[in-house]
Amino acid sequence: MKITMIGSGYVGLVSGACFADFGHDVVCVDKDESKIAALKEGRIPIFEPGLDALVSSNAAVGRLSFTTDLAQAVADADAVFIAVGTPSRRGDGHADLSYVYAAAEEIAQALTKFTVIVDKSTVPVGTGDEVERIIRGANPDAEFAVVSNPEFLREGAAIDDFKRPDRVVIGGDDPRGLEVMREIYRPLVLGRSPIIEMSRRGAELTKYAGNAFLATKITFINEIADLCEKVGADVQEVARGIGLDNRIGSKFLHAGPGYGGSCFPKDTLALLKTSQDYEAPQRIVEAVVAVNDNRKRAMGRKVIQACGGDVRDKTIAVLGLTFKPNTDDMRDSPAIAIVQTLQDAGATVRAYDPEGVEQAQKVLTDVVYCDNPYIAMEGADALAIVTEWDAFRALDLSRVKSLLKEPIFVDLRNIYPRDIIEKAGFHYTAVGR
Ligand code: UDX
Repeated sequence: MKITMIGSGYVGLVSGACFADFGHDVVCVDKDESKIAALKEGRIPIFEPGLDALVSSNAAVGRLSFTTDLAQAVADADAVFIAVGTPSRRGDGHADLSYVYAAAEEIAQALTKFTVIVDKSTVPVGTGDEVERIIRGANPDAEFAVVSNPEFLREGAAIDDFKRPDRVVIGGDDPRGLEVMREIYRPLVLGRSPIIEMSRRGAELTKYAGNAFLATKITFINEIADLCEKVGADVQEVARGIGLDNRIGSKFLHAGPGYGGSCFPKDTLALLKTSQDYEAPQRIVEAVVAVNDNRKRAMGRKVIQACGGDVRDKTIAVLGLTFKPNTDDMRDSPAIAIVQTLQDAGATVRAYDPEGVEQAQKVLTDVVYCDNPYIAMEGADALAIVTEWDAFRALDLSRVKSLLKEPIFVDLRNIYPRDIIEKAGFHYTAVGR
C-alpha cells in the first residue's frame, strides 16, 4: 500500500517508520523544512528508542521518504494519515483542531483517485464528520472515505506498541475505506493483535475514554497511597493485592508524583470539554484532573517535609526530570511543579536527567544541570528521585551518602526497598509506604 503521513512529529514518524517496516511504501510530510531536511539526512528530531535504526533502514531500501510537498505525496497515496498535533487550546483546554482542518483542506485539493483519509491525531468526537465536510466542500468530485484510527503508543515503548498492539481500532462505515485499512494492518494479523471495527464516533471516543480511564487508575492508586501513609499500610502491597484480580489488572497501579506527558493531561481536559458540550458530565474525570494537578506541588512539599519542613538556602539533588523514563519529553512533567515548589521555598536545585536536560532548560530556569547523578548530589542536603530512569535503580549508596550533607533520600517513584536504604543509613521517604 502507498501511505502518506501528514505530520512528521512523534506519532507520524513512529507510525510511518513502522508501516514502512511492514513493507508499505511510506512518505512522511511536514511543513517544517528544517525537520524534513534533517530526516532526509537521517537525523531524528525526537528521542525514541529504536526509531533512528528503523528510519534509516527503511529509508535506505527506499520504502520511507520525506517531503514538504503535500500535494505530490497525497496524489499517489492509497491512504493519507492525518497525524498532526492537537494541542490544548490556550484558555479553554479544548483540543486545537486548526492543524487537522488545515490538513484536510490541503488534502482535498490534491486528491486524484479514491483515497482513504485516516485520522490518527487524537481528536474529539465528531471531528471525522467535520473533516469529511471540509473535503467534500473543497473538492465536491473527490472520491474518498474518512476513517478514524486512534493511536495508543506510549513514549519510550512506541515501536513495540505499534508492532504488537493490544488492539487496533478502526472507525468508519465505508466498505472501500475499511478494505484499505484491513490491508494496511494485515501484517499485524499474524501476531494475533485484535483489529476491531466500529463507528467513527465510537473510535474517536475510545481514545479519550481509554486515556481517561488510565489516568483515573493512576490517580486512584495515588490517593490510596496517601491513605496508606496515614494508616500505616504499603501501597505496593495493596496495588499487588488488588491488581492480581483480573478484573482490575496490575498495570498502571504504580503510585508516584502524578501523571504527566503529552497525552493524559491534554486528553482528559479535552474529554471534559466534550462532556460539557454534550451535557454529559464526567465527574470522575473532573476529579482526576483536579487531584492530579494538586498532587504535583504536593510532591514538592513532601520533599520539603523530608528535609524537616524548611529548605531555605538548602540544596536538593533532583534525579529525573522527564515525565517518565526513556523519553526527552518534559510536557506536563511532575518535575516542573516539584522543582518550582522547591525553588519557591528558597531551595537551590541541582538536577540530572539522562535525556531531558535540553527540553528542561526551556521550562525550568535557575536549575544547576549536572552531567551525572553523583555530580548533582555534590554538596546537596537531600536527594529526590522524581523519574524512574533505569540508571537510578542501582545507585552506589555509600557514594551517595558521602556526597550528601544530610542522609535524606526521597524516592517519589518507589524504586527502592525501604530496608536497603535505611540499612545504608538514610532517612527514607517514599510514596504510600
Ligand atoms: C499514554 C498512553 O499510555 C498511550 O496509550 C497513549 O497513546 C498516550 O498516552 P504516555 O503518555 O507515553 O502514553 O505514557 P504512559 O506510560 O502511559 O505514562 C503516562 C504518565 O503516567 C507518566 O507520567 C507516568 O509516570 C505515569 N504513570 C503511569 C504513573 O504514575 N503510574 C503508573 O502506574 C503508570
